[in-house]
Amino acid sequence: MEIKRILVTGRLQEELKHRLDGVIGAELRCLPEDRVTEQDLAWADAYAGFRPVPGFLPEQYRWVHALGAGVDAFIHRKPWSEQTILTRTTGDFGRKIAEYCLGHMLADAQHHEGFSEDQRARRWGPQAAVPLAGQAVAVFGTGTIGQTISLTLRALGVRAYGISWSGTAHEAFDKTVSLREAAVVLDQADWVINTLPLTEQTEALFDERLIALMKPGCAFINVGRGGSLVEPDLLRALDRGQLRKAVLDVLSVEPLPDTSPLWSRPDIKITPHIAAVTDAEEAAQALLDTWNALQQGENLLANRVNIERGY
Ligand code: GLV
Repeated sequence: MEIKRILVTGRLQEELKHRLDGVIGAELRCLPEDRVTEQDLAWADAYAGFRPVPGFLPEQYRWVHALGAGVDAFIHRKPWSEQTILTRTTGDFGRKIAEYCLGHMLADAQHHEGFSEDQRARRWGPQAAVPLAGQAVAVFGTGTIGQTISLTLRALGVRAYGISWSGTAHEAFDKTVSLREAAVVLDQADWVINTLPLTEQTEALFDERLIALMKPGCAFINVGRGGSLVEPDLLRALDRGQLRKAVLDVLSVEPLPDTSPLWSRPDIKITPHIAAVTDAEEAAQALLDTWNALQQGENLLANRVNIERGY
């Protein structure tokens, strides 16, 4: 497929221009999201960005490339055009997210917050760390992100269960089960981590019913999408002690509104969607590699999104 004019927009537009102008064999027009006009949208035969800008119509393009790993901003509950190829960035997200999860798990196990409070109060309050070794984690999503989390934690002696639609066994996990069988591993997991993309199937997946299957007192980390978690159900589960704590990098509404009850909870740690931020180098490489593959034939694309599946 021949792509000649790519409209690049979003946070990395300037760096992508700098890195790819004259390197990629297509003309680039790089603009901040709020500067894209109807003429720019009409000029391009391909669009690269973190999300569609107002006026974006998928059918105007032969190729759309998501600069992030998730593509829900483009296709979740939105019409797509069959002729338009959608690809996404597959960078080093697994390692970044694994480090994020590990960081929060260790901070919890080693009582970082309690010791910070003690220090502020000039209080000497010994409390032994809870070893991660011997604990168990259930990871929703057994793709590369879930696999990297699992391998990282297993290296520290954590047992890792994978949960996917099919339940197909994968060597990165101690055991893999299907979503229907989730109860079998959920009642053993001290930590539950969601890495799933937002699709019709995963929207509001973590509701009261699913949370009730989790081991009482376990902790939940959401690095997937906020729309997969029913936040009022999470709050109720924390209130009754079904869950001990939650670490949320993604929220149903971002930025999280000032009025949200989540902000003031000591049992919730909120981070502003930073667990795996696409950097300029991986964005440039992915855009270039995908463009190159497209020139040679669409079937060479390793990062094409299956629109029906939603990821
Ligand atoms: C981050 O959430 C991404 O989709 O890259």
